[in-house]
Amino acid sequence: MNQAYSTKVMEHFASPHNVGEIPDADGVGKVGNPVCGDIMNMYIKVENDVITDVKFKTFGCGAAIATSSMATDLIKGKTLDEALKLTNDAVAEALGGLPKVKMHCSVLAEQAVRRAIDDYLKRKTGKGLDVKSDEELHEEEAVEA
Ligand code: FES
Repeated sequence: MNQAYSTKVMEHFASPHNVGEIPDADGVGKVGNPVCGDIMNMYIKVENDVITDVKFKTFGCGAAIATSSMATDLIKGKTLDEALKLTNDAVAEALGGLPKVKMHCSVLAEQAVRRAIDDYLKRKTGKGLDVKSDEELHEEEAVEA
């Protein structure tokens, strides 16, 4: 089992990509973990169903910051459908793996993307996605652990 942070995680923690806010964002996703208290905000700009810009602000642990940074890299320039396929496992894998106790941090990144797209769709079409609450996400993690 991987217990240490990979070099990639350390790099993204030390110099995260796409940090900040987009004041006129087309969609905003906010997600928090009720246990550790970490919070992630993600902002997206969308043109013709493509994510043209994305930024994040995360108040959380090193893994939460590294996974936010990697997730933003992975969805920039992608279509909404492609971005919705991004899983927390894929984010963790792109970072060279995460310690097991830090896998929940990658769930925040996956869900922040999903909620930002949900917010965009609600604003645009009045109909969003099926999104889970912070509590439901945490219950799923507890079952998987
Ligand atoms: Fe909770 Fe990392 S410890 S998001």
